Amino acid sequence: MQNDRLIRALRREPVDRTPVWMMRQAGRYLPEYRATRSRAGDFLSLCRTPELACEVTLQPLARFELDAAILFSDILTVPDAMGLGLYFADGEGPRFERPVRDAAAIRRLAVPDPAAELGYVIDAVQLIRKELDGSVPLIGFAGSPWTVATYMVEGAGSKNFAHIKGLLYDAPADLHRLLDTVARATVAYLNAQIAAGVQVVMLFDTWGGVLTPRAYRDFSLQYMQRIVAELVAGPDGSRVPSILFTKGGGPWLEDMAETGCDALGVDWTVNLDEARRRVGHRVALQGNLDPAVLYAAHRVIRAEVARTLESFGHGSGHVFNLGHGIHPGVDPAHAAAMIDAVRELSPPYHAT
Ligand code: CP3
Repeated sequence: MQNDRLIRALRREPVDRTPVWMMRQAGRYLPEYRATRSRAGDFLSLCRTPELACEVTLQPLARFELDAAILFSDILTVPDAMGLGLYFADGEGPRFERPVRDAAAIRRLAVPDPAAELGYVIDAVQLIRKELDGSVPLIGFAGSPWTVATYMVEGAGSKNFAHIKGLLYDAPADLHRLLDTVARATVAYLNAQIAAGVQVVMLFDTWGGVLTPRAYRDFSLQYMQRIVAELVAGPDGSRVPSILFTKGGGPWLEDMAETGCDALGVDWTVNLDEARRRVGHRVALQGNLDPAVLYAAHRVIRAEVARTLESFGHGSGHVFNLGHGIHPGVDPAHAAAMIDAVRELSPPYHAT
């Protein structure tokens, strides 16, 4: 691999500068993404057409000096493959035609065969690896079982999680059964991504932060830990590093670091110096610039990048990223300012 900074930083091995990529780096803030999506017709058709998914995966790399590509897909392809009927209502985010609300519906769910129902993702991974031609590593991903289950049970995005929290408190055994099925589906799916060529995997636990500490352990972390433990090695026999990201997971970094993962994604509500003190001897850290900083002037972006690098401090084990996905309204030139600042300001933190 020509640029292995990301892999080295995830293993906390020396690097010449801090690697950088952005969550949602292929997305609506890029005019070329919007053009390809309109050629595809809609977001799901884009996901389901490997040539177009490959094209948008590579778009941010053509514009910026990024240290990683992330597979273009979505965490909700897994429940879609389980037959829930995913669709996107205009401007309303994801929805399911057939949400899962009771024990009978949970019992009917089966683990999809990644080579069949999710074959389009596996094809996209192979195509992207071929096009990348070893330039930068490819990150694969899935949602955490808890986060995927929130959409399956609510049937859409949610503010107070009435239905899934109803299950959690009234019928925890049913919810565990659902999470177990999603976890098994996720292991099969991520292992198929690894076999097809992804070199890092990331679990997105966007909604773990809405749980109590105890419920987080029992209903989210436990399942992520199982997934991490069941990941296979890459086709060349090397360990594929894993990143766990729980948005709002700041209070539980120690528990997350005990799962056997290689790195934690950190949002902007925790300072990296504190996170490093608490867990940096066990795992690498990824993050954590507030995505809203990218609305500010270039000199402000540069100063906030400098502050984030200084917060992590000297040595390897930091992957620069936003604390959550880039907002659709951000000017791409501002993303470039962030990436340039990481490239220019980080080498002194790696000088021996
Ligand atoms: O990071 C990347 O560039 C990889 C691609 C990626 C997408 N979704 C593309 C996408 C990844 C890693 C995801 C993960 C995802 N999807 C999460 C977890 C990550 C997070 O942000 O916390 C969640 C909760 C979803 C579910 C989902 N998909 C939602 C809530 C939405 C609507 C979001 C919105 O801003 O409207 C999507 C759609 C989606 N997934 C888009 C993209 C680029 C926007 C679709 C469009 O083109 O209109």
